[in-house]
Amino acid sequence: MIIARSAQELQDALQTMRGSIGFVPTMGALHIGHRTLIDAARKENECVVVSIFVNPTQFLAGEDLSKYPRREEADFKICELSGVDVLFYPDVSAMYGEDEVRICAPDVRGFILEGASRPGHFDGVLTVVMKLLNIVRPTRAYFGKKDAQQLSLITQMVHNFFMNIEIVPMDTVRESDGLALSSRNVYLSPSEREEALKLSASLKRATKMVMQGNTKSSEIKASMESILSPLDVEYVTIVNRSFRFLDEVVIGDTIVLVAARVGTTRLIDNVWM
Ligand code: PAJ
Repeated sequence: MIIARSAQELQDALQTMRGSIGFVPTMGALHIGHRTLIDAARKENECVVVSIFVNPTQFLAGEDLSKYPRREEADFKICELSGVDVLFYPDVSAMYGEDEVRICAPDVRGFILEGASRPGHFDGVLTVVMKLLNIVRPTRAYFGKKDAQQLSLITQMVHNFFMNIEIVPMDTVRESDGLALSSRNVYLSPSEREEALKLSASLKRATKMVMQGNTKSSEIKASMESILSPLDVEYVTIVNRSFRFLDEVVIGDTIVLVAARVGTTRLIDNVWM
């Protein structure tokens, strides 16, 4: 595995490779969710590039940038064992300069839900993903449905900027008890981890209600809120794949989302139906 620390080093490494490139952008602290993305990229492409970069521009003031988990050695091993060809591991100065041009998230879809709780977050995500996609120039890039709004906005950006890259959505990987894997789960104490199961439990309830024929968003949300109580819930919402709010679930075009704080840790989860 080649480790590239700048755009130039990455492009030099890729010059020696042939065929399609599968790309998995991450912020490290790799877990089985990331592994699943890497495995799919490995299966579907000749060459696999993973990036590990804790992107400062997507963290708001007061968020967990400085304490975001960093696991260099373990992450390198996981990439090596997963058959990654090139690991892109830049520092901040290799990615950002002074007073730069940036990508802006769309006015509506970029500033609801995650964008309302974290204004400016998606500008940072889209800017870094644009940079990464332009450096790597992949055939396919893999993103998790766990971060549904991020996935939707990246898909929109690739479309809006006529970028010739296939965005591949990947299902959320969960622990056996339902908890969605997240690098932030390490912040949870054992009792908080127990409480965190309420997120996936509420989504299971939503799925069950829809399977039983109740597609009314207001009723599904009320039922989910009763399961989530007494957690500090930021939102429970039902949207279509383009992130427009739905009064009724439309099978095949619906995402049910939840965001809540467990202790001081902010968790998100969702189910696609
Ligand atoms: P990060 O949180 O490290 O996630 C990297 C990728 O892994 C994202 O596409 C995310 O949706 C996916 N992922 C995380 N948990 C998952 C799970 N349980 N199952 C399946 N996929 C999962 O998302 C980011 O980094 C950053 O915002 C990034 C896109 C790299 C830009 O900085």
